[in-house]
Amino acid sequence: MTRVVISSDHADIPLRHAIAAHVEAAGYEVVDIGPETDASTDYPKHGQAAANMVASGDCALGIIICGTGQGIMMAANKVAGIRCGVCSDTFSARMIRQHNNANMLSMGARVVGKGLALDIVDAFLSAEFEGGRHGLRVDMIEPAA
Ligand code: RB5
Repeated sequence: MTRVVISSDHADIPLRHAIAAHVEAAGYEVVDIGPETDASTDYPKHGQAAANMVASGDCALGIIICGTGQGIMMAANKVAGIRCGVCSDTFSARMIRQHNNANMLSMGARVVGKGLALDIVDAFLSAEFEGGRHGLRVDMIEPAA
């Protein structure tokens, strides 16, 4: 079963729980790494923790949330092998997988509502990387070893 790690900062814990339940209902194994309280916390550590689980191969995909989706995305993308995009629309969520082979999705809890967030998650999870010329370009993203 495909494992999906989910994390957030304090911006919207109930939204993260709703996404976790939605992803689980869609047939994925969800690894929700918290946090569980809405006490103010630092988005970089949560983004990096989720990203490390994807980069290590422990989870195939990751979904992360902060207020805007931007800060936690920036933190995740600092981890080698992570390709994370912020999405507020379903077209982008589909395309970051089809063309960019994104392995993480970030969303802004203060940008999208719950209904749209769940649709964005569906678009992200159901799309597949097209490879070909897109694969050559994705390879160019990784810094030279
Ligand atoms: C927290 O207030 C907020 O800065 C954070 O959730 C996120 O939006 C940062 O990018």
